[in-house]
Amino acid sequence: MGILSLFKKQYTPKPIFEALGTDMHCHLIPRVDDGSKCIEESIECLNTLKAVGFKKVIITPHFQHPRFNNDEDDIRQRYEEVKRQAAEAGVEIEIAGIGGEYRIDSGFKNRLENPRFLKVGGKYVLVEFSLHQQMMGVDEMIFDMQMNGYEVILAHPERYPYMNVQGDRMEQLKNQGVFFQINALSLGGFYGDEARTKAYEMLERGWVEFMGTDTHNTMYAKALVDLSNNRKVAKVLEKYEFMNKEL
Ligand SMILES: [Fe+2]
Repeated sequence: MGILSLFKKQYTPKPIFEALGTDMHCHLIPRVDDGSKCIEESIECLNTLKAVGFKKVIITPHFQHPRFNNDEDDIRQRYEEVKRQAAEAGVEIEIAGIGGEYRIDSGFKNRLENPRFLKVGGKYVLVEFSLHQQMMGVDEMIFDMQMNGYEVILAHPERYPYMNVQGDRMEQLKNQGVFFQINALSLGGFYGDEARTKAYEMLERGWVEFMGTDTHNTMYAKALVDLSNNRKVAKVLEKYEFMNKEL
């Protein structure tokens, strides 16, 4: 065995996400969450998103109490700065909006009382749940949002270990009119076999309206390049319709 074959195959990006058009979930405002650490990293990730076929990107920093106590006005300013620096660096993907990924946590009730949500495409509030355990009162808060006219997208339902496709929980959320967004990388096993299986099962049931990359840094970007060479994933993008292109 030659020494080179010990290394993992290096892939070149394929534009498999052309049909999707817009990436509507990523963490590319530097240093406001666990995403990109500097503008250079953001730019590298943006260039990768373009190389795998996206035309537009909507950036969605974490809003999570108390870990990422972000402020909407501050994030908006930082977003404008990212746009300016990306344009200067010749980034070709269209940076098409700023949203947020809002954790439904103990601080979320306060947000509902004084809503300032940064909405995806000016229309949808992207929310996420705890990755460890179910929080009480989530459904009521989602219902409150819907009663106040918000369209709610749940980020990566396939990643919550306490929710599965066969149980009641996901179906209940679908019946409640919650849109589901899976992570593209889940389809390649980036988050493990369980999340991959759930993502495919959700697609089969017709429960998935959006797909996002959830890109945090260059490690994710590299994984996306690998994924762009995955034939099964390319087929998913041909077979299913997603609402990303409306954004
Ligand atoms: Fe995210």
